Amino acid sequence: MSKVLVIGCGGVASVAIRKCCQVSEIFTDLCIASRTKEKCDRLAQALQGKTATHITTAQVDADDVAQLIALIRDYRPDLVMNIALPYQDLTVMDACLACGVDYLDTANYEPENTDDPAFRAVYEKRCREKGFSALFDYSWQWAYRKKFEEAGLTAILGCGFDPGVTQAYCAYARKHEFDRIDTIDILDCNGGDHGYPFATNFNPEVNLREVSAPGSYWENGHWVEVPPMSIRREYTFDGVGPKDMYLLHHEEIESLAENFPEVKRIRFFMTFGQSYLTHMKCLENVGMLSTTPVRFEGRDIVPIKFLKALLPDPASLGPRTHGKTNIGCIFTGVKDGKEKSYSIYNVCDHQECYREVESQAISYTTGVPAMCGALMLLTGKWKTPGVHTVEELDPDPFLDALDRYGLPRRENRAPVLVDA
Ligand SMILES: NC(=O)c1ccc[n+]([C@@H]2O[C@H](COP(=O)([O-])OP(=O)(O)OC[C@H]3O[C@@H](n4cnc5c(N)ncnc54)[C@H](OP(=O)(O)O)[C@@H]3O)[C@@H](O)[C@H]2O)c1
Repeated sequence: MSKVLVIGCGGVASVAIRKCCQVSEIFTDLCIASRTKEKCDRLAQALQGKTATHITTAQVDADDVAQLIALIRDYRPDLVMNIALPYQDLTVMDACLACGVDYLDTANYEPENTDDPAFRAVYEKRCREKGFSALFDYSWQWAYRKKFEEAGLTAILGCGFDPGVTQAYCAYARKHEFDRIDTIDILDCNGGDHGYPFATNFNPEVNLREVSAPGSYWENGHWVEVPPMSIRREYTFDGVGPKDMYLLHHEEIESLAENFPEVKRIRFFMTFGQSYLTHMKCLENVGMLSTTPVRFEGRDIVPIKFLKALLPDPASLGPRTHGKTNIGCIFTGVKDGKEKSYSIYNVCDHQECYREVESQAISYTTGVPAMCGALMLLTGKWKTPGVHTVEELDPDPFLDALDRYGLPRRENRAPVLVDA
């Protein structure tokens, strides 16, 4: 028996909600609350008669802590799942603290307005001190550690696939496969084709900010930053075949570097097709990825927001997307005095996801771990006061839940290494 409040009703939230509704013995009551209530109502309507979970809906502006507090006090959930945008992480955490409720999200904080002078000052200091210049980092949410601990509340950060499952894979490798891990390569391959020359698989604003940033990786205790898309490798993925992949900065490298200090190198690679890269470069060159408002015919327009309005809604890609994703980690290290390598990953089929939850695999591979993370919290397996990333928690029940609810693991004890 539990009551869960889900904030957001976009591509990822819709999958998480549909999956929660498949486990109604735990998720007995669900409130879907988002900026546009009609989307919540439409989803609640679609699920009517198909689940024993009792669903209600609400309108909320999650940028407004007072509105969130009023909603949480009214609904009295056991857990708030923040599956809106990373911009809302801090306001939702503040509201959870004020109301004494556990918290879970799928992406770490970044501000909507990156020109805000208060953000800029902290950001520029962090770039200098830490040595990577992505707009997002964990410092904002790690600053809540003591507050959550003292309140006896649990906050789980980044419980999607990457971040999320990839860190559970790291925790699993450390627990069962290695005495010492030396290197971790996280590989995110989307072999899906939606037939559009250019579209993003999740929120375009958040996606394009991430992909157009300089790449960076962790090596021998410090960050190494490189120009965007300047490190390319070809890799052959199980279920997909050969793909070009590029080194990116990614949020889980930061928390893994802190929680796995013994690891010598941690990198993240994502696959991109040439069409995606050419479009992105062109859009960047003409200023369409900018978050700084421009004056146009008497009103301010934020270029990347305007671009978002032009691009296909990621939630609409489901029926058109064919092919598979393959996301996972390759490790090298030592077990029982012997050098070894090992990989653990999931292969997910876009069309199978669509048949099950009317969504493509990117939203599926994020929404299912969010549901499984919530399941871990609600059943007490991950109830640990404080603010935690997934590698800090027991990977075993979480990976078992993923196996059961749609993202089964595959293992390879002789994987091809990225630099082979
Ligand atoms: N960890 C991972 O593996 C992973 C992978 C992909 C995505 N993600 C994360 O998943 C999250 C959701 O992505 P998505 O693709 O589902 O995005 P999306 O389709 O754009 O959905 C975002 C939802 O949040 C709502 N929202 C936005 N601002 C709000 C506000 N101020 N108050 C209330 N609701 C608000 C939107 O409402 P409207 O309908 O009114 O716009 C929409 O329902 C993002 O944080 C993304 O970074 C994580």
